[in-house]
Amino acid sequence: MNNKDEFFMQKAIQLAGRKRYKNKPEPLAGAVLVKGDQIIAQGYQKTNAEPHAVSQVLYNLAPEQESTIYTNIEPCFSPENNFSCAKMLVQKGIKRCVIGTLNPAPEINGKSIAYLKAQGVEVTFGVLEEKCRQLNIFYFKYTQTGLPFVTVKYAQSLDGRLATATGQSQWISSGSSLRLAHQLRSIHDGILIGIGTLLKDNPRLTVRLVKGTSPWRIIVDTSLKIPLTANVLNDEHIKKTIIVTTKVAEKKKMAAIEKRGAKILKINQDPQGQVDLREAFFRLGRIGIHSVMVEGGAKMITSLLKNKLFDRLVITIAPKIIGQGIEAVGELGVKELKEAIKFNRIRFKKMGADLIFEGEPVNQTWKV
Ligand SMILES: NC(=O)c1ccc[n+]([C@@H]2O[C@H](COP(=O)([O-])OP(=O)(O)OC[C@H]3O[C@@H](n4cnc5c(N)ncnc54)[C@H](OP(=O)(O)O)[C@@H]3O)[C@@H](O)[C@H]2O)c1
Ligand SMILES: [Zn+2]
Repeated sequence: MNNKDEFFMQKAIQLAGRKRYKNKPEPLAGAVLVKGDQIIAQGYQKTNAEPHAVSQVLYNLAPEQESTIYTNIEPCFSPENNFSCAKMLVQKGIKRCVIGTLNPAPEINGKSIAYLKAQGVEVTFGVLEEKCRQLNIFYFKYTQTGLPFVTVKYAQSLDGRLATATGQSQWISSGSSLRLAHQLRSIHDGILIGIGTLLKDNPRLTVRLVKGTSPWRIIVDTSLKIPLTANVLNDEHIKKTIIVTTKVAEKKKMAAIEKRGAKILKINQDPQGQVDLREAFFRLGRIGIHSVMVEGGAKMITSLLKNKLFDRLVITIAPKIIGQGIEAVGELGVKELKEAIKFNRIRFKKMGADLIFEGEPVNQTWKV
């Protein structure tokens, strides 16, 4: 690996990042073909109907002995398909292939790299690997588990409160942090809250402060306490609203909600009698939701942390002290420090007057 490799890999990442990963089974992929120090072709997959990035770059090319192809993710490979990216790469006589991350899809997962090497292509793996991993993190989680990638995001005071004792939380954080929240909303397929937050704040859960499409809105509500007057049941995004509930909910109310155009997902109860969140995520995954941003409240956050059902935590820490109020995180059953939740890939950034913490829990059960 050298600076030149990183430079061209960065180009491939930029190309791949022109698209957003939303509800898509295909990873974001960009490819750059380099001869000497010159880019001679480049491409990325704009829609799933288009050929993959590597194939796009190579398809119309005469055989190229001396060039190197850079791609953020392992090219696809199928022994039967001559148009698979890895096969095309060999057919075109590409000398070297520089790859950022593996593609964990079972039919690829390292097989493409093994094939390329066996065919005499020089393979360099792991260039800007962490950046490439972050680019496709939703795809990686979903492909390996069938579950959406779950980001838990909330704003707290310096003393770890989510709201005052009367439940007021709007707005703990600054304007720029709110824009960040909307930006995060726009990149996820779904936003999820517990019914407690809906009853208290009646949020709209749409993307307003930045450009972007509003994701699915998901309300977790064991017994359908949601009032029919709730904002999420009375706006133009009703068809992108899912109420996750259980068999204890009244059938008549379910029907009334469905009649308005929202979706009802009936899930089993967990041992506490509430919505079984793991099953809920599986069902959300099955309807094409590959990433979910959880925006609270305290009980929902606590459940997800306790049951290890989250992949990234984003906390906005505002320079305010509330004193007694609603704790962001409740009882986790931690008796000794070694049982505390710890984080990898930690980042802190300043935003306006706030500090943003971002981290991924250690011991994630899936990895790339
Ligand atoms: N600062 C922030 O970033 C922020 C963000 C959001 C909310 N808030 C504040 O947080 C407060 C609301 O928090 P909250 O704890 O009362 O409500 P919540 O976490 O939004 O909702 C909790 C409710 O969801 C339902 N639920 C169903 N299945 C569940 C499960 N498996 N795990 C957990 N909950 C489940 C339960 O009610 P049922 O069993 O009846 O269904 C539970 O009481 C409000 O004051 C709000 O303003 C602050
Ligand atoms: Zn391909």
